Amino acid sequence: MRKSRREIVEKRARRDVTFLVTGATGFIGSHLAVELLNRGYRVMLLCRPNDDLTATQRVARVFRWFGIDLGQTSRLEVIEGFIDQPLFGLTKEKYDRLVRETDELFHCAADTSFAERKRTRIEATNVTSVQNVLDLATAGSCYFFHHVSTAYVAGKKSGYCEEAWVETQDFTNVYEETKHKGERAVLEACSKAGLNLNIYRPSIVYGNSETGRSTRFNALYYPVKTVLYFKDIYKLDIEENEGKNAENMGVRVNDGGSIHLPIRVEKGDGGGLNVIPIDFFLKACMAIMEESLDGDIFHIVNNEPTMLADLIDYTQTLFDINGMRAVRKEDLEVVPKNALETVVHAYLDIYSPYMRDMRIFGTEKVDAILSRKGVTCPKLDYDIFERCMRYAVQADWGNKLFENDPADSQSPL
Ligand SMILES: NC(=O)c1ccc[n+]([C@@H]2O[C@H](COP(=O)([O-])OP(=O)(O)OC[C@H]3O[C@@H](n4cnc5c(N)ncnc54)[C@H](OP(=O)(O)O)[C@@H]3O)[C@@H](O)[C@H]2O)c1
Repeated sequence: MRKSRREIVEKRARRDVTFLVTGATGFIGSHLAVELLNRGYRVMLLCRPNDDLTATQRVARVFRWFGIDLGQTSRLEVIEGFIDQPLFGLTKEKYDRLVRETDELFHCAADTSFAERKRTRIEATNVTSVQNVLDLATAGSCYFFHHVSTAYVAGKKSGYCEEAWVETQDFTNVYEETKHKGERAVLEACSKAGLNLNIYRPSIVYGNSETGRSTRFNALYYPVKTVLYFKDIYKLDIEENEGKNAENMGVRVNDGGSIHLPIRVEKGDGGGLNVIPIDFFLKACMAIMEESLDGDIFHIVNNEPTMLADLIDYTQTLFDINGMRAVRKEDLEVVPKNALETVVHAYLDIYSPYMRDMRIFGTEKVDAILSRKGVTCPKLDYDIFERCMRYAVQADWGNKLFENDPADSQSPL
């Protein structure tokens, strides 16, 4: 149901808007839902249960992490449903109410796995289910579709990538491919229905740059976690098992206690890792939502990617490691990989295309908005890295995130 720019602005100013958010148990969806709630909007969350908890219990647990008690928030409603089922598995009556009450929709749910063996499931979530969500958005009162896509819909395209639809068939993995197909489905359906559409394309999102807090510990965190995993294994071997395995891998404890890990990593030809903190993503997303009232496509990326050599430096400094080096491809070929490098590289293989990224994501459209709003993206410096990694270790990379949380011991409602 189309609305004029003025109507959109006025309705939002009155806070007479109900947002439906999908994927609110996840990293980005939960942050967005909380942000919208904090800004005074009414928010409905479409979430699924898991084997142990109802959708409401799952949301309650995540929201408690944000310091929000579900019982105290009258503007929030959790709807237990399944985006991969017709009518989300709801009764016709409940589904029709969702159609009637949704003014704007933030679609954040997605399968973020890169694993080819999970292709059927990933396609079902990132392509087929998108159609179910679009069916709801185009059936009733909804006038704005906000789609969280990814900068990597550009696939293996090198060089400059526009803030526009990308025509390509060449992808690094099934995630990129299905997000690309999902974006096309969204563009087509919204254009056909005359529904306003903003597409938000973040690069890789990590925790809060000011607090270090996060609920997800993949992407940026994964290589660091992998290195620490090997550090711990060989340290234990040295301390408790005479260090034979460590010696075979060239690992040793230095005088002073730091650990030597002989790992070379290919540094690439000047490309880096494009990472943005969640606080910047939220500010950028809200700025775009406020300013882009006719709808458009935006990259939410870092204009200063982090070089692999810096990441290695940060990791070694923080975790008292040495021996790791970013080297040129030729150097890696001259001296064959040692055993430790072979194992570590195998672990990091899936992220390798993102670590030496030569793509340049165009930001003309988004920059025009962000500069007006005074929103800037911090470069990942050592201080931010330290805050985020300390939090990750403290949260045991997510395993202890909700520890001692009463929701864990509650029986389903
Ligand atoms: N994080 C990043 O670095 C990044 C970067 C670029 C783009 N993005 C995009 O941002 C969005 C959110 O990503 P995220 O990092 O927040 O991922 P996430 O933490 O893995 O969250 C994914 C969300 O999607 C839901 N979901 C997955 N499969 C589902 C299914 N079959 N049915 C219903 N819900 C399903 C999950 O629900 P359950 O909890 O029930 O599984 C969860 O709420 C995605 O569209 C992703 O492509 C993320």
